Amino acid sequence: MGETGCGKSVTAHSVMGLIPVPPGRIVGGTVTFGKHGNLLDLKEEEMQKLRGKEMSMIFQDPMSSLNPVFTAGFQVEEAIVTHDRHISKKDLLSRVVGLFKKVNISDPEKSVHSYPHMLSGGMKQRVMIAMGLSCGPKLIIADEPTTALDVSIQAQILTLLKKLQKEEGSSVLLISHDLGVIAAMAKNVAVMYAGSIVEYAPVSDLFQQPMHPYTKGLLGAIPRLDRDIERLAVIPGTLPNLFDLPEGCKFRERCSEALEICASVRPRLIEIEPGHEVACHACARDR
Ligand SMILES: Nc1ncnc2c1ncn2[C@@H]1O[C@H](COP(=O)(O)OP(=O)(O)O)[C@@H](O)[C@H]1O
Ligand SMILES: [Mg+2]
Repeated sequence: MGETGCGKSVTAHSVMGLIPVPPGRIVGGTVTFGKHGNLLDLKEEEMQKLRGKEMSMIFQDPMSSLNPVFTAGFQVEEAIVTHDRHISKKDLLSRVVGLFKKVNISDPEKSVHSYPHMLSGGMKQRVMIAMGLSCGPKLIIADEPTTALDVSIQAQILTLLKKLQKEEGSSVLLISHDLGVIAAMAKNVAVMYAGSIVEYAPVSDLFQQPMHPYTKGLLGAIPRLDRDIERLAVIPGTLPNLFDLPEGCKFRERCSEALEICASVRPRLIEIEPGHEVACHACARDR
């Protein structure tokens, strides 16, 4: 989770090997995925075999992620054929209809022949989810799958994702800027700020006992039903320019708890309590 522009999508694209090079460049770190080891060491052909089949991504905007000149069914078929070249036409169609049923698309036999403009936003997102599921991946990255949808449709899509995750046994990496969505969906949460993870914790720990000043600020900025608060807290200042990051802690300028060391040394994630990691000098000192 993290506010718009903090680098959530870029991080997800890096995991999938979808950063356009140039100008994109992965300059450090590792992406470890099951038995495949560090994905950054794989060749593009090897990554192609993983994408779709082992890991898939549901993109942020279903309106622009589907190709308007092909039917919804064809676009899901394409994803399947990429990994299963010998599947018969009949099997292919029945597999797509089955997937459309699974994601609760109304009238699946007919909808496979519909073009994207004939489907509502919620149905388009279901097509994207069907595409993501089509090869039974172990990891599904859902990048703000509900941000472009109405609130009532949002709830349906999230319920669907949760149900599919249980049924299929896939892991879901859900990207969101919506704290309500995160509280309802996540088991573990990584909070991002200006391109890095600043806090990582089980969801209940994070909401009950946030440690990083940024996370505290985020949680303080939303209204709560269980407490009387006169004014909501505001995080002063704005995000730093990602192309010209300050030395030391990237949150320092906006932080009320900043120490001297924060100006020069970038804090690293450290486990402060079991399972609860924070990148903050002040939090580390207080323990
Ligand atoms: N790790 C990074 N290194 C360099 N630039 C980054 C990084 N992460 C994000 N950016 C820049 O910030 C922009 C917004 O990032 P994005 O991932 O789209 O944000 P979000 O999905 O959180 O709204 C990107 O287009 C890129 O220019
Ligand atoms: Mg994004």
